[in-house]
Amino acid sequence: MKSRLQEIRSKAEFEIPSVKTEDEISAIKIKYLGRKGILTLLLKDLSVLPPDERKEIGKLANDLKNWIEDNLKQRQKDIKEKGIDSLKKGFFDITLPGRQTIIGSIHPLTKVLNEVNDIFIGMGFTVAEGPEIELDYYNFEALNIPKDHPARDMQDTFYITDGVILRTHTSPVQVRTMEKTSPPLKIIAPGKVYRCDADVTHSPMFHQIEGFMVDKDITFGDLKGVLELFVHRFFGKDIDLRFRPSFFPFTEPSAEVDIRCVICKGFGCRVCKGTGWLEILGSGIIDPAVFSYVKYNPEEWTGFAFGMGIERIAMLKYGVDDIRLFFENDLRFLKQF
Ligand code: FA5
Ligand code: MG
Repeated sequence: MKSRLQEIRSKAEFEIPSVKTEDEISAIKIKYLGRKGILTLLLKDLSVLPPDERKEIGKLANDLKNWIEDNLKQRQKDIKEKGIDSLKKGFFDITLPGRQTIIGSIHPLTKVLNEVNDIFIGMGFTVAEGPEIELDYYNFEALNIPKDHPARDMQDTFYITDGVILRTHTSPVQVRTMEKTSPPLKIIAPGKVYRCDADVTHSPMFHQIEGFMVDKDITFGDLKGVLELFVHRFFGKDIDLRFRPSFFPFTEPSAEVDIRCVICKGFGCRVCKGTGWLEILGSGIIDPAVFSYVKYNPEEWTGFAFGMGIERIAMLKYGVDDIRLFFENDLRFLKQF
């Protein structure tokens, strides 16, 4: 039995120093000292020995058990320290802060669009949508702009095929909605529109929000009231605005609304092109010709409509002096909102 113990010890002396991981340490511990471990099984045989020998062998076996335990403990300590050491020295710098997840924020145009929607929804308007790839019929024809009409030049159009275009404004949603719904109605229609147009205040893709209301006895006063209320809610009471007579084939009379340029406070700059004012929308009383396309009786119904540029009011609200900044996705710009 003594020689068996000696054998076990030599084996352990050989195995323990070559252990490299904490998992291997547990495995060795089980192998020698576990319930069915080599040393444990040997100790069970002690009972067959005469008392004297049992005492002596028992002590030797116990010493061996302690020796194995101590050595494994020491080895475990070494492994741990070596691990931390190599972390400190080389490859990993455990003092570096963890990597932060970058959380996005809402794009300023989405923010403005949501805010505009909320203001009109608060006034009782409901939201409608229309397609961005649109028929010539809805974008022009049914808005009283026949083929070869000079007014088509007001908006430089991207053509897909002869009768199919990228919509140049949100006004076709007026026609689509009125075709399907009988008056009275009070609708807003936000969305993307496209024009072959680019400078500091013009982008080839931009957002408009269309608004229109059809009921009995709607007047220009209703239009002014709704738009003034909107402008004051959105920009605050101190903002300067003006209605400027204008022309659209689908409204009569028509007006555009300008806001005093916030970039130069009205003194004139490249954003307002020296005028001190920036146009934010076109509007007017819906032309009876449009009603005839959607089969509304112009003797019975009247309405107003407007189409507002979302980028323009975002520029004025935040003092952005170039519309292209909204689309460049420069994080230094976007993070400011
Ligand atoms: C229209 O698009 C008319 N449909 C508006 C309308 C609707 C009039 C209903 C009457 C009744 P206009 O082309 O002016 O009108 O454009 C409306 C607004 O869109 C402009 O006031 C401006 O704020 C914005 N806008 C026009 N072109 C651009 C562009 N290229 N980039 C950014 N904003 C633009
Ligand atoms: Mg205009």
